[in-house]
Amino acid sequence: MTPGPSASTGPSEQGVHFRPVGPTSAAAFTLDEFRDTMGLFVTGVAVVTMCDEGGPHGTTVNSFTSLSLDPALVLVCLVNSSRSTRVIRHSGAFAVNILSHEQVDVGRRFGNHRVQGDESFEGVPYRSGLTGAPLLVGAVAQIDCRLFATVPAGDHTIFIGEVLDLGAAADNPPLAFHRGRFLPLAA
Ligand SMILES: Cc1cc2nc3c(=O)[nH]c(=O)nc-3n(C[C@H](O)[C@H](O)[C@H](O)COP(=O)(O)O)c2cc1C
Repeated sequence: MTPGPSASTGPSEQGVHFRPVGPTSAAAFTLDEFRDTMGLFVTGVAVVTMCDEGGPHGTTVNSFTSLSLDPALVLVCLVNSSRSTRVIRHSGAFAVNILSHEQVDVGRRFGNHRVQGDESFEGVPYRSGLTGAPLLVGAVAQIDCRLFATVPAGDHTIFIGEVLDLGAAADNPPLAFHRGRFLPLAA
């Protein structure tokens, strides 16, 4: 297969192959149909946090998944235009905070691009992890990662993190997301 024009080289992306991208107009569905269909998949909700000289930053995601056991790897997919994408590339680290059923407001706030920087962390207690990324108090789990690899994929980038540390409160019911709505799960 032919590497796409945006494929970068380097050991972290060995084995990644890109199918040549055809014209979007060839798709047999609309963007809304794509979005609505993907929304049928129930996910958890996490806030990915990171820190650089500009201070702490975070963004809500539902594109989080575990990837590898040995080494312990996880991934999140972030839109290329986001501030989080720039900060992670710069800092080389991020943390994934899996939200609890009581953190709907946190999910909304970090998912709103109009709320930025210190303002988004107001009233959200956190401590710094090993990597310097903020770990949100009250989250179901905090997973602290060093950036392992990035993979360009359309208008998003896949950020793969090597897990350096984690904490979990397994009895705390999580928050779910389905068809564009937050679903606090009962215990
Ligand atoms: C439930 C939920 C899930 C989201 N999942 C993602 C995601 O997986 N990737 C992404 O790039 N944006 C996702 N977003 C949108 C970002 O959180 C939002 O655009 C944010 O404002 C980006 O902030 P930034 O530009 O400061 O990084 C999600 C938003 C919500 C509410």
